[in-house]
Amino acid sequence: NGVGAASADAAELVSPSALRQPFVIGVSGGTASGKTTVCDMIIQQLHDHRVVLVNQDSFYRGLTAEESAHAQDYNFDHPDAFDTEQLLECMGQLKRAQPVNVPIYDFKNHRRSSESFRKVNASDVIILEGILVFHDQRVRNLMDMKIFVDTDADIRLARRIRRDTVERGRDVSSVLEQYGRFVKPAFDDFVLPSKKYADVIIPRGGDNHVAIDLIVQHIRTKLGQHDLCKIYPHVYVVQTTFQI
Ligand code: ADP
Ligand code: C5P
Repeated sequence: NGVGAASADAAELVSPSALRQPFVIGVSGGTASGKTTVCDMIIQQLHDHRVVLVNQDSFYRGLTAEESAHAQDYNFDHPDAFDTEQLLECMGQLKRAQPVNVPIYDFKNHRRSSESFRKVNASDVIILEGILVFHDQRVRNLMDMKIFVDTDADIRLARRIRRDTVERGRDVSSVLEQYGRFVKPAFDDFVLPSKKYADVIIPRGGDNHVAIDLIVQHIRTKLGQHDLCKIYPHVYVVQTTFQI
């Protein structure tokens, strides 16, 4: 069947999946607001698509031994704490459907692992999550959809105390000291002002199932529009000649 052969050739020559860009979602919000929880819930609901999560935390600059000795004086909530150039490079590669090695960050030692990386492959959806992912305009420009997770500060502080003492090797007094000195001021100066860039604001984070269902529906609609390329590949085959 000549026509069939031509369509198959066309699909092979110009693969629609190679032409379409992943759908990029930014998820921001204060510390312990439930960003990761919301992302996990979105990923779970989109189980039939290829979705990857990139954490801004992975791009924390590692501290030197000297800085590490005074880690309590270091501001991890300031935009300069992140290597944003490297984040942009990684996201650029993922948008071009190239696999990337994302650094693994160790919150206990304030350092990146020198040996291991997390390999992230090309996907349909990329979710970029972090306290300051809306701060830099170049990072914002990568996003097709921006979500801000809005959870009361007292709830966030309570969760942060529990998480940092259980998972990040801190004691209660150091968490409270860091919160008052750096986390809260930086939230007021950098995180909260970036809320205005959000397309969607989710009150109560992962408890808000209605908001998450609506967001997932929207993503599915957008991916469905992309999937039309699969059904009508010839729409994308421009300037290609066939031999039947
Ligand atoms: P973020 O990524 O914004 O720092 P996480 O999703 O990691 O926030 O949540 C921070 C902490 O709070 C985690 O220990 C998580 O288990 C807990 N947590 C998140 N959402 C809820 C919730 N709706 N109810 C109870 N605990 C929660
Ligand atoms: O997961 P979450 O969004 O809370 O991660 C960001 C928080 O991690 C920041 O508020 C910052 O204070 C904290 N952090 C830390 N120690 C590090 C790196 C980040 O306490 N080494």
